[in-house]
Amino acid sequence: MLGIIGGSGLYRLEDVKVLEELFIDTPFGSPSSPVIVGELKGKKVAFLSRHGPEHSFPPHLVPYRANLWALREVGVDRVLAVSAVGGINRLLKPGDFVVINSFLDFTKQRKSTYYEGRLSVKVEGEDKVAQLIKEGKVVHIDVSDPYCPQIRGALIEILEEKGFRYHPAGVYACTEGPRFETPAEIKMLESLGADVVGMTGYPEVVLARELTMCYASLCVVANPAAGISQNKLTSDEVLELMAQKEEQIKEVIKDLITRIEPKTCGCDKILEGAEV
Ligand code: HPA
Repeated sequence: MLGIIGGSGLYRLEDVKVLEELFIDTPFGSPSSPVIVGELKGKKVAFLSRHGPEHSFPPHLVPYRANLWALREVGVDRVLAVSAVGGINRLLKPGDFVVINSFLDFTKQRKSTYYEGRLSVKVEGEDKVAQLIKEGKVVHIDVSDPYCPQIRGALIEILEEKGFRYHPAGVYACTEGPRFETPAEIKMLESLGADVVGMTGYPEVVLARELTMCYASLCVVANPAAGISQNKLTSDEVLELMAQKEEQIKEVIKDLITRIEPKTCGCDKILEGAEV
């Protein structure tokens, strides 16, 4: 089943018939929101709000491990994350979609793995993930291609067909937040090859991959990053832009839910040869 992680400005999905609202507890704590399982044109879909229904989790305190684990518990094996980002690359304009294909991690204090060796959290289950965690294994996953090529391909197809302004690739830099960046930091990120900047894309992507899920991110440029425009950055600006894009974002998601094909990507083989 496809799972949607909604970011700033995306807290619910209308048109999806709600089947269940699940309050899930995980070995990694409670997720930021209940998981809503719904149905659209005969396809089941799960939805989780990253910042919580009242936007009460700041980026550095989002329970990323619990969120992905909760989605896994309800049977999610593919995740589409929606995120507001600042545009660093000058070609990007507010409102543009970016189907990112790599990341740079500048976070500082987030648990970014389920595999903590002998310090691993106790979990239940018999599948490969649970086995590795239970056995206290150390696991190094490959992130040569961190975002699922199949979901990225489908997103690009949808964005192209709908005629929305989009960029088919981009490097996402994840900062710790919750503050915005300084112009100097943005200059540094630009010189390192970042196209967009956000605060929540990491460790979400690697945690999903560690659970053998496919993961892709639909980024929406909400503002020019600090120093790119002379204006001060505000959360109001980000939320306003996301509100303007809400209908388009939902159109893309709904199309993806009904379009998704059987897997050909290999994301579910990520654990082969990964354990020490
Ligand atoms: N920086 C970090 N995160 C963001 C931004 C930004 O400029 N805009 C939206 N999310």
